[in-house]
Amino acid sequence: MWNQTSLAGKRVLVTAGGDGIGLEIAHAFAGAGSKILVCDIQPESLARLAKDLPDVHSCLADVSREKDVASMFELVDQRLGGLDVLVNNAGIAGPTGGVETLSLADWERTLAVNLTGQFLCIRQAVPRLRQGRAPSIINLASAAGHLGMAGRAPYSASKWGVVGLTKTLAIELGRDGIRVNAILPGAVDGPRIRSVIAAKAKALGKPEEEITRAYTDQAVLGRMVTARDIANMVLFAASDLAANVTGQELVVDGHTQSLN
Ligand SMILES: NC(=O)c1ccc[n+]([C@@H]2O[C@H](COP(=O)([O-])OP(=O)(O)OC[C@H]3O[C@@H](n4cnc5c(N)ncnc54)[C@H](O)[C@@H]3O)[C@@H](O)[C@H]2O)c1
Repeated sequence: MWNQTSLAGKRVLVTAGGDGIGLEIAHAFAGAGSKILVCDIQPESLARLAKDLPDVHSCLADVSREKDVASMFELVDQRLGGLDVLVNNAGIAGPTGGVETLSLADWERTLAVNLTGQFLCIRQAVPRLRQGRAPSIINLASAAGHLGMAGRAPYSASKWGVVGLTKTLAIELGRDGIRVNAILPGAVDGPRIRSVIAAKAKALGKPEEEITRAYTDQAVLGRMVTARDIANMVLFAASDLAANVTGQELVVDGHTQSLN
């Protein structure tokens, strides 16, 4: 289906594409015939990626480090020859606990990866996107970027920040023809959510099954979403099918009413 859209030949950078949702996004763009560079901080994940998707370029880069991001964009120029789509996917869960129990270091690390990392990549990407074809930026936020989430203050604050950044840049860059959208996933089934659930169960002294049930019941569809659901929305947002969609919160959460 996606090979009927405008994605073949698009030059795409996916941050944190070695595992999880980012890996699924890389697979989806590869299936659509795009040219892709992926970064990650885990060399083992990138080695696995190189085996599975030999045409995808990759590099080690921590998006919160300005130097890493600058080197990564040099590779964008060398390997992709320009940029049409930036997918700001890197984000960490951050600590779980009541606000008075959180350390400043954990607060700062969460904001550094989830929000400053997107800023650093966007700052490098924009001059390249101005030269790109139907360019767009897609920022991974979260349902916690438009709902409160008790026990996850740094994460939720960082993701509200991502939504603010997205809406602001959509206005700032609209006249340059650069679209900017945020994707807000609900709980995505996979290893990350299981470790979040385990941390929450421990913090509240409750069984993991009870927390898992709360996570599935919080969506009106009664199930978690999948990484493939998120990749589908990323591809839609990057494609010409979304040519007049910008500044939006694209929510993929089974209509989650509140976050547990
Ligand atoms: N999993 C969910 O339930 C969920 C829900 C809502 C939003 N999100 C968001 O989706 C995005 C992807 O989430 P995920 O669940 O795939 O994450 P994940 O924890 O599975 O991590 C994916 C990859 O990110 C890499 N990574 C971590 N820190 C990095 C950094 N500083 N620089 C570069 N790479 C880094 C890891 O090495 C890993 O390979 C994040 O922004 C996350 O906040 C996830």
